[in-house]
Amino acid sequence: MSKQDQLNKLNERMKNCNRCALRKGCTQVVPGVGNFEAEILFIGEAPGKKEDETGAPFVGAAGKFLNEMLEIIKLKREDVYIANVVKCRPPENRDPLPFEVATCWTWLLEQIKIIRPKLIVTLGRHSMERFLPNFKISEIHGKAMRREIEDLGKQVFYTLYHPAAALYNGSMRETLIKDFQRIPKIIAKIKMEEK
Ligand code: URA
Repeated sequence: MSKQDQLNKLNERMKNCNRCALRKGCTQVVPGVGNFEAEILFIGEAPGKKEDETGAPFVGAAGKFLNEMLEIIKLKREDVYIANVVKCRPPENRDPLPFEVATCWTWLLEQIKIIRPKLIVTLGRHSMERFLPNFKISEIHGKAMRREIEDLGKQVFYTLYHPAAALYNGSMRETLIKDFQRIPKIIAKIKMEEK
């Protein structure tokens, strides 16, 4: 089965998920969007209001900023894949609970296994903590790390501040843009090391 078919099937299964109470309080499941052949998988936290309405991740203000940063490195949304650790909007946009992240993990794991990105870019603390627990985002943002993840194997991660957090904070915004601009070099390095 092609990657596209696998992802379509997975998305259909995700849309019928009722594993936790979040599904009852949201409009729809937001599985993810993008290129199934993507080298880069961006992983955010959870859908917000706009994402819940449209069914696509990162379509609100934070998404607009993400699009702008992608443009800086000459990429479009269609070149990458974008998903979240939690696929349903938490009430009032509260932080996802550890139980919700754990319950949704198998969906994300399946997405990663199909896409097999060269680089996973975590957006914000909640996404970082899923893969790189025991780290502080202020210490590891802008650093690429190769890690062995249970059920996944070796994977390169790159931690960024969340675009929503950086949107109205001048210095964090500057840092995020700087970190973001390093992505092409990181990808090039991963490819070099693969040869
Ligand atoms: N913030 C996220 O973490 N994910 C989205 O999809 C939108 C905003």
